[in-house]
Amino acid sequence: MLLEVESLDVRYGRTHAVKALSFGVAQDECITVLGSNGAGKTSLLRALQGLTPSSGGRVIFNGEDITKLSPPQRLRRRLSLVPEGRQIAISLTVHENLQMGAYCRSDSDVARDINGIYERFPNLGARRDMQASVLSGGEQQMLAIGRTLLARPRLIMLDEPSLGLSPLLVERLFELITSLHLEGLAILLVEQNTQMALEVASRGIVMELGRATLTGAAHDLQNNEQLAAAYFGHSSH
Ligand SMILES: Nc1ncnc2c1ncn2[C@@H]1O[C@H](COP(=O)(O)OP(=O)(O)OP(=O)(O)O)[C@@H](O)[C@H]1O
Ligand SMILES: [Mg+2]
Repeated sequence: MLLEVESLDVRYGRTHAVKALSFGVAQDECITVLGSNGAGKTSLLRALQGLTPSSGGRVIFNGEDITKLSPPQRLRRRLSLVPEGRQIAISLTVHENLQMGAYCRSDSDVARDINGIYERFPNLGARRDMQASVLSGGEQQMLAIGRTLLARPRLIMLDEPSLGLSPLLVERLFELITSLHLEGLAILLVEQNTQMALEVASRGIVMELGRATLTGAAHDLQNNEQLAAAYFGHSSH
């Protein structure tokens, strides 16, 4: 397993947001974490990146215990999060935002890799010297993903990337996730767009109030009546 999560707990005072959660992500796997508002999905991803402290359990990445490491240390080990709400720096240019994504790197290939992002997302290339505030919602999400890719992740975590995008852009986003997966990235995808997430992922984990209440092959979850009743038709906030 590339990522092993062992009995992870996240607490905020009395709120127990993630309760003894255990699962793994293999090198070549795309796994989706589903669940309604407040289920603990963001808390899980933030704890895996080290942005929110965990209060119990262990996180093993590439065979190493990273439970106590800081977010930049985890980035350097090539574990990287596209945060909820994108969180790009809107007063900086597109190019500066991408450079920020590579801050943890000390190699000399950053400029080449930024050009690679412009090739992948020509809209970003055309706006490289503009403030990120002029980008559309879809372009901002591409910038957030591009910035995260510049950390050269082996595992990329995405927190509700489709939120607020038009159906056409959601379609494009899922094509992008599929191609990143085919290029060899392991993916941990948090989504409320249950159906599309289960189409790209091989396995799914359903969280409710901090616990994994249902896990299984994506195909089985697609046909799961319990899940259908709980989530299908409620695929957005
Ligand atoms: N910084 C915080 N301080 C206190 N409580 C928090 C904090 N962040 C989240 N919580 C609480 O932890 C629980 C899980 O929240 P979390 O944001 O992880 O859920 P989520 O599944 O990502 O929800 P959403 O679908 O709305 O993004 C909720 O009860 C939430 O109110
Ligand atoms: Mg969330």
